[in-house]
Amino acid sequence: MAKARVPSHDEPISRPAGPAAGLGLDAEALGRLFPFHLVLDRQLAIRSAGAVLQRVLPALAPPAAFSDHFTVRRPALALDFDTLAAHTRTIFLLAARAAPDLILKGEMIPLKAGAQLAFIGTPWITDLTALPRLRLTASDFPVHDSVSDFLVLIQAQKTALEDARKLAEQLGEARDAALKASRVKSEFLANMSHELRTPLNAIIGFSEMLSTQTLGPLPEQYHSYADYIRSSGVMLLDLINDLLDLSRIEAGQYSLEESEVAVGPTLSECLAVVTTDAQRKGLKLSLEPGPRDLRLRADQRAIKQIVLNLLSNAVKFTERGGISVHVEPHRLGLDLRVVDTGIGIDPIIIPCLFEPFRQGHIGLSRKYGGSGLGLSICRNLVELHGGTIALASEPGKGTTATVRLPPGRIIAGG
Ligand SMILES: Nc1ncnc2c1ncn2[C@@H]1O[C@H](COP(=O)(O)OP(=O)(O)OP(=O)(O)O)[C@@H](O)[C@H]1O
Ligand SMILES: [Mg+2]
Repeated sequence: MAKARVPSHDEPISRPAGPAAGLGLDAEALGRLFPFHLVLDRQLAIRSAGAVLQRVLPALAPPAAFSDHFTVRRPALALDFDTLAAHTRTIFLLAARAAPDLILKGEMIPLKAGAQLAFIGTPWITDLTALPRLRLTASDFPVHDSVSDFLVLIQAQKTALEDARKLAEQLGEARDAALKASRVKSEFLANMSHELRTPLNAIIGFSEMLSTQTLGPLPEQYHSYADYIRSSGVMLLDLINDLLDLSRIEAGQYSLEESEVAVGPTLSECLAVVTTDAQRKGLKLSLEPGPRDLRLRADQRAIKQIVLNLLSNAVKFTERGGISVHVEPHRLGLDLRVVDTGIGIDPIIIPCLFEPFRQGHIGLSRKYGGSGLGLSICRNLVELHGGTIALASEPGKGTTATVRLPPGRIIAGG
């Protein structure tokens, strides 16, 4: 083995010379294999430092004092050359003062008859996020050392777990806040609706008395004013009822009151409600009720509300032709279809229309009125029954709304 040559005190630091005694390494090998090494002289001045270590801790420029830049973590020793030299082959942890996440783990090796000591170390990174901060990449770690890889892996797992825990915490907080906000919103809507409904019912009732002239004749103009007050009151009441329903559904407080629902008669009742409006527009209404004894297990009020919302849309958005309601039981359940020959709607925006307050005929919303809640309520009520709802439309030709209820809802006539 070639004789070791170590740098003398006055040799320039940037060129660590000579092999490390006992290791048989020359300066180049020391630099290549141990990019995190240090050579200390008797005064514990740093005589040379590995290239990567110098890059990470630029303040190591010679003649830096060892104790200005590192603390010895283990073993706890007095910091003088002889004590360090006496503990060669003992594991030292050197914590870098300027970069607390960088710890070097290694051994002291005496060089040249005790005049210099080499610390040959490998990095321990205590925080994964320190890697980019220290501008370290995988190629900066010694090839022969798997400890740093292992630590990085552990650290990555730890960071991932910590991130997941924080995320779960944040999600939990967000959920609690959302639940609270939703509860507050529902309570507010329920209270407001109650407060608004009571006077509205009085307004509607008394304006009806005026418009039907129950207590005696009124001048013609008052009569039409009374009519207007009544219809506006009814619109407001509808809106409040829709809002209340939607907030109850969204807060999970809407529970179905299930009973046996006779499909034919229920649909006839719904058609009766929209007959006056349809006749006023000259629209034909028809019903194909399917099997006579068709019955469902469902919430009758909800089914009526679904069909009425679809029918009122059909009447509202149809100027000529008519509206037909079809009932068709089949293998996959029961289809209720409301078909109109109206203005239709661009198929691209159909999916949005089931969101609350979305309307498709922007420029025309004043003409057609409404607040964009009908389809959203329909979808929620249909889904509470385990069903689906879809719209198909061809602008200018008409629209078909299909409600599909699951086969388990059919009691008879399916
Ligand atoms: N049969 C239909 N023909 C054409 N467009 C329709 C039809 N049904 C719904 N739409 C479009 O979908 C939008 C949303 O319908 P939705 O029933 O939710 O609200 P709305 O009828 O405007 O108001 P609300 O039902 O609250 O009185 C409507 O504004 C309209 O643009
Ligand atoms: Mg509507």
